Amino acid sequence: MAKKGYINPKFLTPAQLNLKIQRLNETIEKNRLANTVKYNALENFTTLLTAFAGHDIKNALLNMEGVVQLLNINNVTEEDILNIKECTSRIRETLEEFTNLGLPQDTNVIEPFEIVKLMSSLNILHRHNLLYDIIDYTVIYKVPKSTLVQQNFHWLIQSFNNIYINARNALKGVAGKKLQVTISRDETNLTVLVSDNGVGILPENRKRIFEPFFTTTKGSGIGLAHVVRVMENVHGHVSLSEEPGFTTTFKVTFPLLCDTQS
Ligand SMILES: Nc1ncnc2c1ncn2[C@@H]1O[C@H](COP(=O)(O)OP(=O)(O)OP(=O)(O)O)[C@@H](O)[C@H]1O
Ligand SMILES: [Mg+2]
Repeated sequence: MAKKGYINPKFLTPAQLNLKIQRLNETIEKNRLANTVKYNALENFTTLLTAFAGHDIKNALLNMEGVVQLLNINNVTEEDILNIKECTSRIRETLEEFTNLGLPQDTNVIEPFEIVKLMSSLNILHRHNLLYDIIDYTVIYKVPKSTLVQQNFHWLIQSFNNIYINARNALKGVAGKKLQVTISRDETNLTVLVSDNGVGILPENRKRIFEPFFTTTKGSGIGLAHVVRVMENVHGHVSLSEEPGFTTTFKVTFPLLCDTQS
């Protein structure tokens, strides 16, 4: 028995048959285009993910180089060891994230940590480079250091690492280098301002710096795009702001608890 809705091509006029073939061809073309769009999206996603992971590993190696530059072989301190351990754990977590395709983590398994822990890890990672470049580094807490944050620790380190490294680049050749971090909160969000008195950002570049692959430093233009991506994942936001006495300030705001949408 013929299937319902099926019209035997024998009963179609040549014009109807042509129309049917044309429609089928159109459907095939639409599917081909949709597959191309999906394929391109996947390719773009994988390119970005690979670039983020490569950039992170490069950052960790830069931090490690900082330790090696200043290491006194006859007096290796506990802090030096901690610094190297922190770098290797960043590399391990970046690789783990890469193999998980950078997908947002299940919020139930995210452990809360005190904000001071994030700042100490950043300090450990950058201590040598800040000393080496003679950068006056200040962290101003407008919240208790024990303020709990329940977010993906590694993602936040990656983000602030990228912002710190940019500041360090912007400070090259500047006299009286300053890097200031100010931490505040409202009811649901934590805000971290990272300010430097480096070369600053030209007005025409202010909108473009968050675009993937935009760079004025001959870098890869990946650092800030990664911060944007992390902030999207945690329902936070990164933008340029202003602080008196500084040329560049990044404002990073994200929910204190990972299931809160801001
Ligand atoms: N603190 C800063 N001071 C001045 N310019 C900055 C600062 N931070 C970022 N920028 C500008 O934003 C651009 C993009 O930064 P981003 O971190 O994405 O890429 P990059 O540093 O150039 O390269 P990459 O991070 O991949 O090595 C930089 O090239 C620079 O022009
Ligand atoms: Mg950068």
